[in-house]
Amino acid sequence: MKILLLGKNGQVGWELQRSLAVLGEVVACDFDSPGALKADFSQPDSLLPLLRTVRPDVIVNSAAHTAVDRAESEPEVARALNATSPGVLAREAATTGALLVHYSTDYVFDGSGDQPRTEDAATGPLSVYGLTKLEGEDLVRASGCNHLILRTSWVYAARGGNFARTMLRLAAERDALNVISDQIGAPTGAEMLADVTAHALQRVRAEPALGGTYHCVAGGHTHWHGYASYVIEWARSHGVPIKVAADAVRPIPTSAYPTPARRPLNSRLDTTKLRSAFGLNLPDWQAGVERMLTEVLAR
Ligand SMILES: NC(=O)c1ccc[n+]([C@@H]2O[C@H](COP(=O)([O-])OP(=O)(O)OC[C@H]3O[C@@H](n4cnc5c(N)ncnc54)[C@H](OP(=O)(O)O)[C@@H]3O)[C@@H](O)[C@H]2O)c1
Repeated sequence: MKILLLGKNGQVGWELQRSLAVLGEVVACDFDSPGALKADFSQPDSLLPLLRTVRPDVIVNSAAHTAVDRAESEPEVARALNATSPGVLAREAATTGALLVHYSTDYVFDGSGDQPRTEDAATGPLSVYGLTKLEGEDLVRASGCNHLILRTSWVYAARGGNFARTMLRLAAERDALNVISDQIGAPTGAEMLADVTAHALQRVRAEPALGGTYHCVAGGHTHWHGYASYVIEWARSHGVPIKVAADAVRPIPTSAYPTPARRPLNSRLDTTKLRSAFGLNLPDWQAGVERMLTEVLAR
């Protein structure tokens, strides 16, 4: 099996380089890859020569415009990366018979209520990022290609910056921290997403009827304040110097922290469909976060 991985240097792409390697030959690209392996999603049509050179059996697309606030001021760039380019991948996959694996987000929903949403719940993006990701999903589905769309949320990885690392840095420097407590969701490790992808991809290759849209997030849920408090107290109990007192990590509403993009208050995703279709267990979010902290703090 030949797999073309796009967005290889992102949080999920980096972990996919590991998890896909055992499935076959992986050709891994990013927008600054040299020569014929350059995959620049801001130039959607430029992806065709790459696809026709590599001729993959499976395309795994983890490239995206993920700067949620910046997307508000550059909607056309966000659309090229999140919608038009995945549409090009999907149409080519429909022609060649390749399987397309693509990632999407809880931000396709409006975040009302407090219950987890299933895959067929009504969408209603609040931001340019959410809207362009939804357009990308729609283009993949409309192309008729065999596909696997995994919607996820609150992704973190040991590599690069992430929310937990930012909280640890601030907790070491400051006497008090304000963290949003009315947005709920599940912090989800890039590592787990990559492992689920490898498993599900193989199953869909063998049984194409399993293709479709699935929700893939870690078990349980919390809010950003709960996530921050968990990270800070875990670090404190493991001997990391922390300045902020536990009761000085204060919950604040989203309204007290205005940002260019609106974010859903309820990011909970129901993963029943994924777990039952692929026979998977999705561990609670704390398990992956502890692994990531152990790795980050060992450096
Ligand atoms: N991060 C989250 O919290 C989150 C939540 C829900 C869903 N998702 C979805 O999960 C998927 C993976 O996200 P992630 O967190 O791994 O994102 P990420 O770390 O931001 O990685 C995105 C990748 O896209 C690449 N990229 C940027 N501009 C590009 C361009 N013009 N052409 C080609 N590639 C370009 C980046 O390259 P460089 O690294 O070289 O810039 C990087 O490899 C995305 O579909 C995202 O929408 C993410």
